[in-house]
Amino acid sequence: MTELAIHARNLCKDFGQVKAVQSLNLEIPRSRIYGFLGPNGSGKTTAIRMLCGLLTPTSGDINVLGYSIPDEAEALRLKVGYMTQSFSLFDDLTIEENLQFIADIYTLDRKFKRHRIGLSAERYKLTSFLKKRASEISGGEKQRLALAAATLHNPELLFLDEPTSSVDPVNRRIFWEALFDLVDEGTTILVSTHYMEEAERCHALAILDKGLLMAEGSPAELRERIDASIVTVESDQPRQVGKMLEQLSFVHSSTQVGQLLRVMVAIDQATPEKAVSDAIKQAGLSLIHCNIARPGLEDVFVAATRTQVDTL
Ligand SMILES: Nc1ncnc2c1ncn2[C@@H]1O[C@H](COP(=O)(O)OP(=O)(O)O)[C@@H](O)[C@H]1O
Ligand SMILES: [Mg+2]
Repeated sequence: MTELAIHARNLCKDFGQVKAVQSLNLEIPRSRIYGFLGPNGSGKTTAIRMLCGLLTPTSGDINVLGYSIPDEAEALRLKVGYMTQSFSLFDDLTIEENLQFIADIYTLDRKFKRHRIGLSAERYKLTSFLKKRASEISGGEKQRLALAAATLHNPELLFLDEPTSSVDPVNRRIFWEALFDLVDEGTTILVSTHYMEEAERCHALAILDKGLLMAEGSPAELRERIDASIVTVESDQPRQVGKMLEQLSFVHSSTQVGQLLRVMVAIDQATPEKAVSDAIKQAGLSLIHCNIARPGLEDVFVAATRTQVDTL
């Protein structure tokens, strides 16, 4: 049995002129949470749909749980769960009826179906809602119901496409605790997100932009390998300082976070904080202090996607 849950080589998908996914290579080990981090239109959903066997690639090879995809997609169907970006439930049915319906799609036998619904209701704290209609529950509860539905048949691999987009931070936290419980039991999870704090929780992630894989690794590795230095600046004139710095050839970008400016400086600057403070002083603008900062995943993301913007 292969140790990799997902292995994709040179995966491509074109929609006419649009290159939605370009030469994507993935090696995702089992029992891990792997993230796709990327803005809208970066190819996350397209990649997930190809890996599930729902969309035929333009070219490339896919192996998922030992099956060659899309040829053996039917055999894979019962081993994977897929929570779509805009998951839908039947609003007129109760929570229990929704779960029963899904169990029937997965052709679970009666006894197993009852057992799994009971277990999922308990695990995802849905027991007291079972008789309520899906239209009557809150966003966070709906999210838990969607996760219960996607895992009802106890899949080995779970695809979650922006599962928490409309959920508040507390419910997002509860949701992620549930994901780690699943991983603890051996489930592999591929989750797409545009939230940095979610990307931070993944064991490893791929940063996607315009269909291209721009960087890959664990959050710590990605921070380590960032191709830029980060300098924070405190000033009484943050807007003017930011605009001035952005004109400099060795400054990639500057963004304001509260009172501080977060400045991305070219990696070839030996003393980036000195280069920045010298430039501010030279321009006659206010400088309170200027320090080197530890890169965050957002910095990694900006640095990784910058090269592509520059080459357009
Ligand atoms: N069925 C389709 N037909 C044509 N273009 C599509 C289709 N699906 C996605 N695209 C295009 O492919 C690109 C990637 O889309 P998508 O995979 O949905 O990105 P993401 O999920 O990261 O937002 C976008 O430019 C999108 O417009
Ligand atoms: Mg999408």
